[in-house]
Parts: sequence; C-alpha cells; structure tokens
Amino acid sequence: MSDPATLSGDAGSTPHELPPEIDISVPSVARGYDYALGGKNNFEIDRVAADAYTAVFPGAVVLAKHNRGLLQRVVRYLVGEAGISQIIDVGSGLPTVGNVHEVAHEIDPAVRVVYVDIDPIVLAHARALLAQNDTTIVIQADAADPRSILDDPKTRELIDFDKPLAVLMSGILHHLPDEKNPLGVARAFKEVLPSGGYLFASNFLDDDDDPRAKEAERSISGNFGTGRFRTWQEQRPFFDGLELVEPGLVYANDWRPDEDTETDSPWHTFYCGGVGRKP
Ligand SMILES: C[S@@+](CC[C@H](N)C(=O)[O-])C[C@H]1O[C@@H](n2cnc3c(N)ncnc32)[C@H](O)[C@@H]1O
Repeated sequence: MSDPATLSGDAGSTPHELPPEIDISVPSVARGYDYALGGKNNFEIDRVAADAYTAVFPGAVVLAKHNRGLLQRVVRYLVGEAGISQIIDVGSGLPTVGNVHEVAHEIDPAVRVVYVDIDPIVLAHARALLAQNDTTIVIQADAADPRSILDDPKTRELIDFDKPLAVLMSGILHHLPDEKNPLGVARAFKEVLPSGGYLFASNFLDDDDDPRAKEAERSISGNFGTGRFRTWQEQRPFFDGLELVEPGLVYANDWRPDEDTETDSPWHTFYCGGVGRKP
C-alpha cells in the first residue's frame, strides 16, 4: 500500500512520488472536485481545468459544496432516521472533511460502507485512511459496470443484500454519458436493493433548458471529459420503481436544509437530488 504522505498533490506540503497508475497528464474529476472543495490532493493540470470551467460557469465551486452538504444530510437521514446499516457509495471521491463513513459512524459506529471509485488516487488515499477500519472498505470499479461492484468479493463480504441497504450515487450519474446507459446503471442498483432499501442520486441540473446549463456542460466536458446537465424529465426515471422520500426530487438545497444550508444561493437551480425507497 502506498503511503498517503507521498501522494498529496502539488497543492500539498508533502513530497509526492506517484504510483504509475496515477496519471497527472490529464485532469481528473476526483482531483478537480477536491480542488473545488479546498483540498490539497490535486495537481496543476486539475486546477487549470477547474479554473477554466469556473471561468465559464462561476457556480462550479458553489455547486461542489452544495453537493457535499446534501450528501451529508442524506447520510444523516438514512442512518439516523431510516435505520440504514449498510451503504455502497458509488463515485465516492477523494477523502475530505465529513466523509460518508464518518458521518454515518457519528450516529451508528456499526454501519458498513463500501466506497467505489474509478480513479486510482481515490483508492490510494482511501485505503490509507481506512487501514484500521473494519467496517469500511474501498474498491476500484467503473460505475458503468454495476455487476463489477456488486459481484466484487470484498463487497459481498461486507454487505448482506437481505439487510437494510442504501446505494449512494452522489455526483456520479452526471459523469456517465448517455451512451454508458446511466438509467440502466441506476436500475441495476435498484434491482439488488431489498424492500426498504434506498437509492440516493444527486446531479447537475438543466432547469427548463437554461442556456447556461448547456454552456456549463460543454465546459466541464471539454475540460474534464464528462459532465452532463440533465433536465428534470431526464432525471426522474433514475427513481422509477421507488417511493420518493419527502420532499422528493428537488433542488439540492431544498432537500431537508439544515442551519448550514445556503438556501438563497444564486446557483441552486443547477443541482438537484432525491432519495427513493424501494417498496
Ligand atoms: C463529483 S465527485 C463526487 C464525490 C462524492 N460522491 C461526493 O458527492 O462528494 C465524482 C466522483 O466520481 C468518480 N467517477 C467518475 N466517473 C466514474 C466511473 N465511471 N466509475 C466510478 N467512479 C467514477 C470520480 O473519480 C469522482 O471521484
């Protein structure tokens, strides 16, 4: 296992000897998102791409923070109110402040968490962070191939698919282009949920054909390779077959806001999320 101290981006204060699987010749979504959240695990190439995107779409950094806040409120709801004891977090991102397992374990230390990400830098950091943790693991897999996640022996060892389970797709389905069949991906995860299981999805939103959403989509896709701003109509089917938990599929900051949620943000119409429960 790599030492996390050698993996910090050049925004970090530590030296870095990167394992060969970490490619810093192209910007990475995980590292760009880390930069937006104020993290240190990013490189010049990620910052240049993120700054170029932000120049076109100034809401980019704000949306990353809105997304993170929503994710934490949802985890508190799932563990604290819905009694969820197992979580598969698809497209989990680089460890940062208030990770899913930390939020969950504040409420119930027994909650099991499987983190999944395609980016090797996430794996390296998460493995180091979780080395002493029996209830939380990380696997490398492509969200576009749900079976590779569900059939992974490490997933099957930690998760009992007959017990209360939630699948989190926080800021990930918008990184699956249409040709990767994001609806089919969501369906595959819904199929394995037990009755009373939950799916959470949050995504960039094209609110009523807003031209700024199209522009933002072109910019993030050009700079990072992926990033779809889908309409409400395109997002609702992610939850087909589920009962939406109140208040439904809504702007991110309208989903059970707490005292830290910025409810008057000018960018709130560019991001949405919802939680569905399998009947
Ligand atoms: C915007 S970040 C979201 C992180 C975290 N879920 C959150 O909401 O704070 C998107 C993450 O999805 C990962 N990702 C992108 N495409 C993926 C794919 N096809 N399979 C798995 N992970 C992917 C990226 O590496 C990145 O870490």
